[in-house]
Amino acid sequence: MARRPAVLITGANGEVGHGLIEALAARGDCDVVAVDLHPLAKSLRPLVVNWQAGDILDEQLMQRLVTEYEVTTLFHLAALLSTRAEYSPDIAHEVNVTGTLHLLKLAHQQSSWSGRRTKFIFPSSIAAYGIQSLEEKAALPPLKEWEQLAPTTMYGCNKVYCEHLGRYYAQHYQQLAARPSGVGVDFRSVRFPGLISAETIPSGGTSDFGPEMLHAAAKGEPYACFVRPDTTIPFMTMSDAVRALLMLHRAPEERLKQRVYNITSFSISADEFRLEVLKAFPGAEICFDPHAQRQAIVDTWPRTVDDEPARRDWGWQPEHPVEVAFAEYLVPRIAARYG
Ligand code: SER
Repeated sequence: MARRPAVLITGANGEVGHGLIEALAARGDCDVVAVDLHPLAKSLRPLVVNWQAGDILDEQLMQRLVTEYEVTTLFHLAALLSTRAEYSPDIAHEVNVTGTLHLLKLAHQQSSWSGRRTKFIFPSSIAAYGIQSLEEKAALPPLKEWEQLAPTTMYGCNKVYCEHLGRYYAQHYQQLAARPSGVGVDFRSVRFPGLISAETIPSGGTSDFGPEMLHAAAKGEPYACFVRPDTTIPFMTMSDAVRALLMLHRAPEERLKQRVYNITSFSISADEFRLEVLKAFPGAEICFDPHAQRQAIVDTWPRTVDDEPARRDWGWQPEHPVEVAFAEYLVPRIAARYG
């Protein structure tokens, strides 16, 4: 009895999951199986062939799924984000690291059955970086993938380690055993900047001040930004983030010179973010009330990253530079959303 080929998405209910499921459904060339701790959003249910509310650490749940589906690609999006992970570091480690390890094993198992490499697409983050001081942050050129990797958060540590685990599974797993060629895990990862969605509001992240500011203004609510006005990190629209995942997914493996790629769209300060929001919602009430510890986390993240390897190897280019992002994508959609 043949199993049905499918793309498995974990963390399917999250912000990236929403965008990804919609984009895959629009393409219509694969069946999607969705897993999330919480029941899948009703709007997404018609777009998938199966969804399960459950824990990625539940081996029985995951093994039951693969009795029915041959997982050809895994988009592993489930994670506790950086702020939430600081409140529950042990749980964060369990979900972010042990969960990823289990899924890498599952991907390897799938590949052994099918005789083809199983693609494993993993979102990493600028949180992988850890810059030691504001002076250094101001002076650094756009960071390359291998620079400044001493994160100060549990989430950042988890991401860096899982990047290594993925590379290990793709290139060195069972290196002392005789292995059939062409089998194994084809691990690919992008380091996302702060993501801004028009459809969903983030929760549990430390780059959330940007999207929170925008959604509050659109709802007509006041907003107190939890970082200083000068705080600068890279950002990207959710639509560009999903495009990046799909572009990386589609790239021929032989073109990929590395397994982890920086990507970025635009870097702006929290105050510049406020000014963009005010252009669209002139009456917005936005003030700054920095939270010392969350500020300290964002201060270790780079102002900008070097995404040249992604451009070179798989043609990465954002569709939404800053003006387009706000004027043509975010603002019209958010305004429509809140009426
Ligand atoms: N946006 C994430 C966070 O703030 C970082 O990847 O945790």
